[in-house]
Amino acid sequence: MNRPSQEGARLNVPAHVKHARLIAWVAEVAALTEAADVVWCDGSEAEYKRLCDQLVAAGTLMKLNPELRPNSYLARSDAGDVARVEDRTYICSAKKEDAGPTNNWMAPAEMRQLLQTSDKALFKGAMKGRTMYVVPFSMGPLGSHIAHIGVELTDSAYVAVSMRTMTRMGRGALDVLGENGDFVPCVHTVGAPLAAGAKDVAWPCNATKYIVHYPETREIWSYGSGYGGNALLGKKCFALRIASTMGRDQGWLAEHMLILGVTNPQGKKYHVAAAFPSACGKTNFSMLVPPEGYTGWKVTTIGDDIAWIKPNADGRLCAINPEAGYFGVAPGTNYHTNPNCMDSVKRDAIFTNVALTDDGDVWWEGMTDTPPAHLIDWQGRDWTPAIAKETGAKAAHPNSRFTVAATNNPVLDPEWDNPAGVAIDAFIFGGRRSTTVPLVTEARNWAEGVYMAATMGSETTAAAAGQQGVVRRDPFAMLPFMGYNMADYFQHWLNVGERLAASGGRQPRIYCVNWFRKGADGKFVWPGYGENMRALEWMLGRIEGSAGGAENVFGTSPRYEDLRWDGLAFTREQFATVIGIDKAAWQQELGLHAELFKQLEYHLPAALPDTRARIEKSLAAA
Ligand code: OXD
Ligand code: MN
Repeated sequence: MNRPSQEGARLNVPAHVKHARLIAWVAEVAALTEAADVVWCDGSEAEYKRLCDQLVAAGTLMKLNPELRPNSYLARSDAGDVARVEDRTYICSAKKEDAGPTNNWMAPAEMRQLLQTSDKALFKGAMKGRTMYVVPFSMGPLGSHIAHIGVELTDSAYVAVSMRTMTRMGRGALDVLGENGDFVPCVHTVGAPLAAGAKDVAWPCNATKYIVHYPETREIWSYGSGYGGNALLGKKCFALRIASTMGRDQGWLAEHMLILGVTNPQGKKYHVAAAFPSACGKTNFSMLVPPEGYTGWKVTTIGDDIAWIKPNADGRLCAINPEAGYFGVAPGTNYHTNPNCMDSVKRDAIFTNVALTDDGDVWWEGMTDTPPAHLIDWQGRDWTPAIAKETGAKAAHPNSRFTVAATNNPVLDPEWDNPAGVAIDAFIFGGRRSTTVPLVTEARNWAEGVYMAATMGSETTAAAAGQQGVVRRDPFAMLPFMGYNMADYFQHWLNVGERLAASGGRQPRIYCVNWFRKGADGKFVWPGYGENMRALEWMLGRIEGSAGGAENVFGTSPRYEDLRWDGLAFTREQFATVIGIDKAAWQQELGLHAELFKQLEYHLPAALPDTRARIEKSLAAA
C-alpha cells in the first residue's frame, strides 16, 4: 500500500489492516480532530482489561467489589448527559421531505459546515489531547448475509469498552472488511479537548450536542455526549436510523424489536419479534420466565432491542439481533420482574448511573423492596431512605443502565449467533397505554397489522430527555429511530408484506398488545412480566388455528375462555377491564390517528386512512 511511513506511524495502523479507504478516513478524522494519538482496537480480552484499568485510573469507572460483583464497574456520568437527546438528533438527507416531519433536519452542506468545515467547526480540534480509538465492529454475526460492518472513531475509552460488549468488535470485523469491504463510518467525540497539562474530568462531555446522520452517504457524526445511544453508535444511530434507510433501499427491515424463541412442550419452536417503545419492558419480555402451570414451555432470547430482518429464499422473514450485548434500563429490574436479567448482570457488567452500596455493590430503585440504609447515589452524594423521603432524590437515575454481553444471559437462545437468522412467525407491537388499547389483538391481515403498528401510542419514559408520562404517537416504536420519512416507511412495510404474499412466502401474523391498562384505582390490572406468556400462548395458538377469539373493531381479541388461567387468579371482570373496547375512548383514539395521518400526509399510503375509515364505520355501528 502506498502511504508515507511517517503518517502510518502516527496513525499506528496495524500491519494486518490493508483497507486503504479505511486508513485514509482515519487519517482524515485524526487530522480534523487533532487527536493526540490513535489506537486501533482488536477486541481482545487483554485490551478490554487494559482500557478498564485506564478508566479506573481516570476516575470514569470504579471497580465494584469482586466478591459481590466480579469483573464489574460503575460509571457516573455528568448530570447533564444521562439520556438520548432526541431534540439534538438530525437526519441530514439531501431533501427535507426524505427526513420527514418526525425528524429534525438540516441540509447536509450546512451541517457539514457546522461540524466539519467552517472555521469554528465543532469537530475541528475536538480530540486535542485525547486518544482516538478506531473501533471496527460487526452488527450481526460475523460474515452473516444479514450483518453489516461499521467503524467508530471515538475519543472515549468508555465507548470503546462498551462497544466491545455491545457488538462483535475488533479483529474479526476487520477481517470481514478485508481490503475493500463496505463499512458505515461513525465519528464520535465527547467534545472536550484537553489542553496540554490540563486535568481531565471523570465524564468529559459538552453542553452542545449533535447526533447527526447522513443517510445518502451512510455516515454518523456524534458530538458532545458520552452516553448510551448518543455515543455507542452501532446501536440506535447505525442499527436503526442508518440501517432503516439501507433496508428501504435493499428490501429489508431494521426494527426496534426484541426477538425471542418460544418452545412448546411438544418441542415445536416459534420465533417472535416485538416492538415496544423505550423502557416498556422489552428486556423483560425477551427474557420472560413462563409462569406456574406452563411446564415444558421455554422462552429464549435472541435479542432484546433491535432486529434486522431479511426475506430468505424460502419466503420467510429471517431475523438477527445485530447487537451482541444488552444496554438495559436498571431501575425496576429485580428477581421478580426479570430473574434472567438479574443473573445476566451478576458479573462482567458496566453499570452507569446506578447507586453504590457501602460494600461496593450496586443498587437501584426496585431492586429490593427495602432499600439499603445508606448508599452513594448516581451523582456521588450520600443517600438514605430518609433523604429520599424528604427530597424525592432517586438513588439511581431513572435511565441508569447496565451493559453486559448477551453470552451472560442464562436463557440465551442457541440460535442467537446463527448467521442465517431465525424465521419470524409473529410480530408484536405494544405501547404503554393506561386506557383504550386491549391486552392483545390480532390483525386480520397485513395492512391492518401495519395500521396497528403505525398508530401505536405510548406514555413517555425516562429513556429520552424530556417530559415523562404523556402519550405520544410512536409508530412501530420507531419515532426516535427512523432514518427517513415515516410515511415512506409505512409503505415499505406494506411492500414487504405484499412481496412476501406475491412470492408465495409466509407473512408473519401481526399482534398489538398493551400490558399497561389501569383500573379505576389507577393501578395496573394485568400482572405482566411472566404472565404475558398467557397472551403469547394465545398468539401461537392463533397461528396454529387452535385458539379462539372474538372480532372487535380493531381486530380479533381473545375471550376470557380463550386464555389459559392455571396458576393465576384473574377474574372475568378484571379481564373485561384489560380487553374491552370503550366506544367513546376509541372515537377519541381515532381522532388522534387522524391527527397523526395529517402530520404524515406526505406520501402516506392510502391503505392507512382506508383502514381507519373502516374502523370508524364499524365503531359507529357497534
Ligand atoms: C434503548 C432505548 O436504549 O430504546 O434501547 O432508549
Ligand atoms: Mn431501545
